[in-house]
Amino acid sequence: MYDVIVIGSGPGGYVSAIRCAQLGLKTAIIEKYATLGGTCLNVGCIPSKALLDSSEHFYNATHHFVEHGIEVKEVKANFSQMIQRKNDVVAQTCQGVKYLMEKNKIEVHHGTGSFINATTVSVTSDTGTKELQAKNIIIATGSKPNYFPSMVPDKQRIITSTEALSLHEIPKKLIVIGGGVIGLELGSVYARLGSEVEVIENSSTLLGTMDGSVGKELTKILKKEGLKFYFEHQVQQVTNLGEKTAIVALDKKGNEVNFESDYCLVAVGRKAYTEGLGLEKVGITTTPRGQVEVNEHLQTQVPNIYAIGDVVQGAMLAHKAEEEGVYVAEQIAGQKPHINYNLIPGVIYTWPEVASVGKTEEELRAQGVEINIGNFPIKALGRARASMDTSGFIKIIADKNTDEVLGVHMISARAADLIMEAAIAMEYRASSEDIARICHPHPTYSEAVKEAALGATGNRYLHS
Ligand code: FAD
Ligand code: NAI
Repeated sequence: MYDVIVIGSGPGGYVSAIRCAQLGLKTAIIEKYATLGGTCLNVGCIPSKALLDSSEHFYNATHHFVEHGIEVKEVKANFSQMIQRKNDVVAQTCQGVKYLMEKNKIEVHHGTGSFINATTVSVTSDTGTKELQAKNIIIATGSKPNYFPSMVPDKQRIITSTEALSLHEIPKKLIVIGGGVIGLELGSVYARLGSEVEVIENSSTLLGTMDGSVGKELTKILKKEGLKFYFEHQVQQVTNLGEKTAIVALDKKGNEVNFESDYCLVAVGRKAYTEGLGLEKVGITTTPRGQVEVNEHLQTQVPNIYAIGDVVQGAMLAHKAEEEGVYVAEQIAGQKPHINYNLIPGVIYTWPEVASVGKTEEELRAQGVEINIGNFPIKALGRARASMDTSGFIKIIADKNTDEVLGVHMISARAADLIMEAAIAMEYRASSEDIARICHPHPTYSEAVKEAALGATGNRYLHS
């Protein structure tokens, strides 16, 4: 009998297992695939960032090197090598999780986990079925790509992010359905490698849930990178024509618009994954969106069964899953953990990067909060001109009465790392004056954070 069985080895599950083991709990983890690490390591965060980095080097070599005074005779994309490097990065990272399981004495069982009752799980693999028992069980089975009946992926020409990360050729033309995080990151990869990339989005902007200023600016930036956007277009049908795909959409006036491409990437969100888990056997229900229902302690209707990460409500992000994994482990061990859901940063790894934490301007205005805004353009930074990364801005929103920082939204080179200054400041409930009075190193992108804070305290920008 284990103290804890974790079902699913993504960033939620494996981190939770490690924390359980650290707390002295006898722990096992069940993973249906041969490698550990879940979506994030195998077909998500890590492989997408590997291809984003490779394609960015290629783009810089073909578009910016000459201006930097670097002349290279012929730059060619060796796509199969890019994919091979990505595969190597994934393999090393998954191997790292295996090592962490061994180091923490967590027993790994490969196979599909399915509830028999509230303390027993069967594990079925090619070699047969076994039963494991535990006092507590954590569901960390993650998510899968979502799609609609008009756009069923056949994985050949009509693809999801999983296939887009392992194509055998650079598409001449790629149509992306959905201008969300996956569409923009993978759309960027292929646009940089020379594909003609068109994005069909059914709403009127990109990244509708983020601060409005971000979607507008990013649209302009990505258009310059060569992406083409069709907003307010409803896809009616996607068909595999053998060598091509045909896409029929309706524009906002109801006119039919026809598209053709080598590949069509369906990126219209992800859905919680509970197939084969046997939730009905233990009486655990799901929401209308298929997510496992949990209370504020991430506990299901069955008190000794918890659920974390993409399979429950909230942002579908690896770091959110990890926080929940640690939370549940500590909860089981009798501690009183806490997660500040308002301060889970979101990052989109386009170039420049997009990052955000806290409330958006739209949310705060809708709540009637009086606010001050500081907004500093990246092009005003000496560091940005030196590296030729001048697009974007940093926006800080502070409470008009208390000056507390309530939201920070940015598009900038290195925003993925810069956002943590904002998250730390907000965790300590800093005012924009606090940030403005901290000495920031020169020349860095972080100076734009200080400048935006100076702006939010009352138009005290020093460099614009
Ligand atoms: P998952 O990582 O989905 O892991 C669930 C695991 O459970 C899987 O290994 C699955 O095989 C296993 N499993 C399911 N059912 C069973 C069963 N019955 N028995 C045994 N095992 C089972 N997030 C970020 O924060 N940053 C990023 O840059 C980022 N990039 C992404 C890029 C792409 C292309 C995609 C698709 C996603 C990206 N994400 C990113 C999202 C991130 O991958 C997820 O939020 C994260 O993986 C969720 O972790 P999880 O542990 O909840 O589930
Ligand atoms: P998403 O929710 O980010 O974007 C989906 C987009 O598709 C939205 O803009 C939506 O309006 C649009 N859409 C929905 N139905 C449509 C239709 N019928 N026709 C046209 N457009 C339609 O989902 P996405 O990009 O699939 O990513 C899934 C999740 O994976 C994200 O929610 C994110 O949490 C996670 N992820 C995170 C990354 C990161 O942190 N950098 C990178 C990639 C994924």
